[in-house]
Amino acid sequence: MAAPKASPMASDPSSTPSDLPPPSRAARIMRAISIASQPPPPTPIYAPAEVYGREAVANIARLLPPVERIYANIRFAIMRPKLLSVMDLLLPESGRILDIGCGFGLFSAYFGQTHPGRVITGVDPDGRRIETARKVAKGLGLPSKFHQGDARTLDFKEPFDAAYVLDVMHHIPKDDQLALLADLRDRLAPRGMLIVKDITTAPKFGLKFTELLDRVMVGWDEPLAYRHHAEWGEMLSSLGFRVRMVRVPDVLPYPHVVIAATKI
Ligand SMILES: C[S@@+](CC[C@H](N)C(=O)[O-])C[C@H]1O[C@@H](n2cnc3c(N)ncnc32)[C@H](O)[C@@H]1O
Repeated sequence: MAAPKASPMASDPSSTPSDLPPPSRAARIMRAISIASQPPPPTPIYAPAEVYGREAVANIARLLPPVERIYANIRFAIMRPKLLSVMDLLLPESGRILDIGCGFGLFSAYFGQTHPGRVITGVDPDGRRIETARKVAKGLGLPSKFHQGDARTLDFKEPFDAAYVLDVMHHIPKDDQLALLADLRDRLAPRGMLIVKDITTAPKFGLKFTELLDRVMVGWDEPLAYRHHAEWGEMLSSLGFRVRMVRVPDVLPYPHVVIAATKI
């Protein structure tokens, strides 16, 4: 009995698909029909008009009284697109998020607009700021909640998916900082993200520049307790966080650092 005819591929291991006989006309037509009948690819949902939500910032400013509007414009100018975008991408796109030292709620209003699935709870001891934060969130239709109080004596039961502390840690007395970070860790769900945005202590000129502007805001009596970013890193690691950080350069000499600490 004659041996079955081997295919070109089987008889010659070095042959390629181009060595195969061309597909028949019927096969080509069938293939064209099958491609044409496939559904179109899904429209990507990740299509931001711009990385930095200029519109989100304008919406917030519009809802503020004149003096606070000037402050907000300065604050957003200091925070810069790069900083806000880094934080925006580090935060989960939905879930419960704690904003420690929320002030006028500018950034909860920003992060709430960029991802409407975020439910942000802001805390600040300043009652006037909390009132303003509530009005802004209401005006934007955001589900954020705000509580007047000290971050060191929080009274929330439920775990949070993330928390951020935006230029607030250096307003907390040095001896209380570790305890506050430990408390925030305990309030986070497993794998929860804690973002600490602060001012690091190097270079010295940058620190002095920032301190001078902070003094204009808080006066000369309040203690300002800055730390080098390596110190924050060691403290957070000692509390069981996995820590990554990035220094974000600025045209002004602010020595910004963004620290992403994941609860492990
Ligand atoms: C520089 S402002 C930053 C406000 C806001 N995070 C922002 O970036 O616009 C510092 C804020 O920390 C708040 N703060 C100071 N001590 C605090 C504490 N013990 N607990 C919570 N917030 C505090 C102040 O009231 C103030 O609103």
